[in-house]
Amino acid sequence: MTGEGFRERLLRSGFVRAVHWFDEVDSTNDALRRLAAEGAVEGTVVVAGGQTRGRGRLGRRWHSPPGLGLYLSILLRPSAPPMQVTRWTVAAAVAVCEACRAAGATEVAIEWPNDLTAGGRKLAGILAELRSSGSRTELVLGSGVNVSHRAEDFPQGVDGTSLALLVGEPVVDRVALAESYLERLAAVCARLERGAWSEVAGRWETLSRTGRDRAVRVARGDASFTGTTAGLGARGQLRVRRSNGVVEDVHLADSVEYLER
Ligand code: BTN
Repeated sequence: MTGEGFRERLLRSGFVRAVHWFDEVDSTNDALRRLAAEGAVEGTVVVAGGQTRGRGRLGRRWHSPPGLGLYLSILLRPSAPPMQVTRWTVAAAVAVCEACRAAGATEVAIEWPNDLTAGGRKLAGILAELRSSGSRTELVLGSGVNVSHRAEDFPQGVDGTSLALLVGEPVVDRVALAESYLERLAAVCARLERGAWSEVAGRWETLSRTGRDRAVRVARGDASFTGTTAGLGARGQLRVRRSNGVVEDVHLADSVEYLER
């Protein structure tokens, strides 16, 4: 698959304003951050065949073998204040989940905040990185999807799955997936921009299966607590009700373990 295939098809949507393709790059988030520093417009997309230093949340590595996954970042400058930025991670999780389901992987679900899983194995993730100065918010929203990986393409210790494995095809079209994801992201972001957060949060809860009434343990620094998920709060944070009735806000820096399946 060449970069031109991505460029032509992604530019069809009014949401995407520029597309930069790299056969290989360190990280599409880092490449887009460099372009943003040079004045890239909102809606600039970086997409790569492979990544040498793909990054996940909480300092983890995102295994990014060439030709097998979708590695894509988009630059957004939402009008919302930085404290609401988790809403855009939620939006991206909704859009990736919908695109994967539309590609035939109907069992894919979201786990807080941004893991896409099927049968307990990880399919995709989102890394949202924010820079803000004053009231201006600049967001690099990176999505990684395991697309055409076979079981042996995952390194030891990585419990992953791919769209190809889930739909039973040897190869799944990455360009079509990217197009489908960005169309859905445009629609969800438009809802956020017009203040319809509750619609987006409701969609996230429908697609998550674990966003309500699931027992969890939340680790925050050296401390942890247990409780039951209670949907999303106004800033996009997960809410967890402890046994004493107190509802805690769970943020992106916290890690959540699901206690029963
Ligand atoms: C996670 O699940 O921890 C998030 C994984 C995010 C991976 C994507 S791949 C495209 C973009 N570039 C990166 O370096 N990371 C994100």
